[in-house]
Amino acid sequence: MTPTPSNRPLRVCVLGGDGIGPEVTRAAVQVLRAVCERDRIELDLGEYPFGSSSFRETGDAFPEASRQAASEADAVLLGAVGDPAFDHLPPMERPQRALLDLRQLLDAWANLRPARMSAGLLDASPMKPEIVRDLDVLVVRELLSGLYFGRPRERRVENGEEVAIDTMVYREHEIERIVRLAFELAQKRKKKLCSVDKSNVLECSRLWEQIVARIAPEFPDVELSHLYVDACATALVTHPAEFDVIVSSNLFGDVLSDQTAGILGSLGVLPSASVGGPTSLFEPVHGSAPSLAGQDKANPMAAILSAAMLLRHTGGHEGAALAIEAAVDQALALGLRTADLLPKARRHEACTTTAFTDAVLAALQQPA
Ligand SMILES: NC(=O)c1ccc[n+]([C@@H]2O[C@H](COP(=O)([O-])OP(=O)(O)OC[C@H]3O[C@@H](n4cnc5c(N)ncnc54)[C@H](O)[C@@H]3O)[C@@H](O)[C@H]2O)c1
Repeated sequence: MTPTPSNRPLRVCVLGGDGIGPEVTRAAVQVLRAVCERDRIELDLGEYPFGSSSFRETGDAFPEASRQAASEADAVLLGAVGDPAFDHLPPMERPQRALLDLRQLLDAWANLRPARMSAGLLDASPMKPEIVRDLDVLVVRELLSGLYFGRPRERRVENGEEVAIDTMVYREHEIERIVRLAFELAQKRKKKLCSVDKSNVLECSRLWEQIVARIAPEFPDVELSHLYVDACATALVTHPAEFDVIVSSNLFGDVLSDQTAGILGSLGVLPSASVGGPTSLFEPVHGSAPSLAGQDKANPMAAILSAAMLLRHTGGHEGAALAIEAAVDQALALGLRTADLLPKARRHEACTTTAFTDAVLAALQQPA
């Protein structure tokens, strides 16, 4: 994890990115500034171009100044990337590839995606309250290897038809470090770890399973279970509250964590931290939601909760992180909901991004 900066300001590099990224990041920065002022945490915050918007302006999705600022910061706070105008390009040629470059630059190999049901969110979930009331799961996703980075990755013509190739590669050390981190995180929670793979089909998963079995004896206090990814997808819906920590590969972790967002009610509520290198990255799990961009309609919760994770993981400011999380719960308890958390028939009751953020800021000012 990131070392605690002690005698100097907390350096945060802000990359708003594309679509709703800049607006939800603005909300998160407002909250971050407010809690830091309240708790006398010195902040040194700089904003830099990133993603498709940067590509349009500068011809570079990840300009050198942004790279330098990101690698010199204690933490990076990111909005989202992705612009449909570039969707005709192959994935690795789109400006949003900058996100994979950023994760690589920061050596952020572990993605932590916590999903916790708060009382105020219960009515937004599409699930029965008795099934989701106690949901509190942490998905630990490997972030720098697997199907998203494996080579070869290509398209070619064979016997007159197009063939597309992606490659899943896992090296022993890549599995070892993520599994060990997941065990350590489980030790600090409810001491339950579920390793998710597809070892009945995939070689990478067979290696994964062997390494988990090898490391498990180092953590005798953690109750270990295994699930194939398909069975895990089902169990997350039927009894989500029984999970504590889930560890999985890049692809499976991506999909399963989005599923936890759906169980909570919206992608707009799930924060994440990507750790491993000296600088950690904090970002909402959601994408750039282009259809909502610039309308003050996006849910800023995921970005605001990512700022709380930033304070917790960078600098160990647990009190400030808890204060943000409590302020978000308070805003929800007041009945404030962006449209994504309301059924269609009640969307006219939706509040704006600004109104939700203001309610969080107001809650932060109240005495604890
Ligand atoms: N980490 C990232 O930056 C990231 C992650 C996923 C997708 N993307 C990119 O984002 C673009 C859009 O992708 P997508 O539509 O598949 O995913 P998305 O997460 O942007 O949107 C999926 C759905 O969730 C809604 N949504 C997402 N965040 C929301 C929020 N904060 N408030 C309210 N509603 C929200 C959207 O309106 C949409 O209906 C694509 O270019 C994609 O590649 C980026």
